[in-house]
Amino acid sequence: MTATETAPLDIFTDNHRWGDVAEWNEAAVALHGAGGIHRIEREGFKPFWAVIDHAAVLDIERQAELFTNGPEPVLASENDIAARGLEIKTLIHMDAPDHGKYRQLTNDWFKPASVRRLNDRLDELSREALAKMEALGGECDFAVDIALPFPLQVILKILGLPEEDFPRMLTLTQELFGGQDPDLQRDDISPEVMNEVIGDFFAYFTELTAARRANPGDDLASLIANGEIDDAPMPDLETLGYYIIIATAGHDTTSSAMAGGMRALIENPDQLAALQADPDLIPNAVEEMIRWTAPVRHFMRTAQEDTEILGQPIAKGDWLYLSYKAANLDPKVFENPLTFDVQRSNADRNVSFGFGAHFCLGAQLARNELRRLFAHLIPRIGSIELAGEPTTMKTTFVGGHKTLPIRYTLTDAS
Ligand code: HEM
Repeated sequence: MTATETAPLDIFTDNHRWGDVAEWNEAAVALHGAGGIHRIEREGFKPFWAVIDHAAVLDIERQAELFTNGPEPVLASENDIAARGLEIKTLIHMDAPDHGKYRQLTNDWFKPASVRRLNDRLDELSREALAKMEALGGECDFAVDIALPFPLQVILKILGLPEEDFPRMLTLTQELFGGQDPDLQRDDISPEVMNEVIGDFFAYFTELTAARRANPGDDLASLIANGEIDDAPMPDLETLGYYIIIATAGHDTTSSAMAGGMRALIENPDQLAALQADPDLIPNAVEEMIRWTAPVRHFMRTAQEDTEILGQPIAKGDWLYLSYKAANLDPKVFENPLTFDVQRSNADRNVSFGFGAHFCLGAQLARNELRRLFAHLIPRIGSIELAGEPTTMKTTFVGGHKTLPIRYTLTDAS
């Protein structure tokens, strides 16, 4: 079925619609009533199909050769695509056979048994976050003071980078992924500015590669710097692309899930109380936070053959927008999708980490980060409320809270 005239179809292309996520969510649920796939024709964009049906998103992701990530894995306007200069090749830009070879290099490093060894560091960062909240004296901006730095500290740890590189990495990851939000840009939104940001990353990581080739350690940066593809050293551009995908994919995504999860607890005090009464619910609550926030709003795929999705004919070359956010609100899968429910029995069926060949490499690490932070924080919350109007990033790709002012009391650590 295709869209009706009244369906709010600009939720996919208009970044300002992300300024009010509750309204976006309601629009998406209404759109589910009109069908699982919708033709989007908006000025400035190549026409595409928005896929919001949960099962159809999984089906498309399962067929990575029929629906490829290349040539454009992220929604961009025709102007931005035409003006793009520097081409970075990261895992998300790759398809078979390259994708499998590159992914193989770090796949084991991200497996659950392997990332478990980071838990001590996650506990340490959680204690530091609590200490910071105490020091801030009962009011803070949870998005800026806690959720933003935490995952970036984890990135520094896994890449083996020193603490003093934090500010540089913070600016760069924010500007790369926050590119459309007026508050997160350098001067303007031009592709030249974007290329400058990417250029900064290149210079920084070129130095890192040389250092890790000279003195390899046991960190992820050493694995990437010394990685081989087809028995030859990984090409420079791909090496740089690898660092970039780890740093950017692991930062704003996880921050957004943390801040959005915190807000959901504040706005649903009964859910916070349930977790305080039974902390064993925290892992499921984290799944629900990840369903609820869906920090990666979408990825694009391109059909390589004529085919069909939900009965809708799709032509070779058609562009498909996989809406993780809307699929997480599919009422056929998630009962009362607009209710935040930490005991939801199928919260882990969310598609926030994608599926199939490109399934998020950092999914287990991200889950652990949220589990550790909330396991430390939730038992200590005496009271908590909003201390102002939160704001969200106006971006169509990766986003969440820009600010989350809160007022709170913490109980003594036992
Ligand atoms: C809540 C946090 C996160 C969310 C919601 C998220 C979401 C996603 C999604 C939707 C994809 C694409 C999946 C697909 O196309 O099927 C992805 C890919 C990826 N993510 Fe994450 N991610 C998160 C955290 C992380 C972390 C912490 C890291 C690493 C430190 C990471 C590294 C990656 C990488 C390397 C890819 C590319 C995988 C590939 O193309 O093969 N992510 N992520």
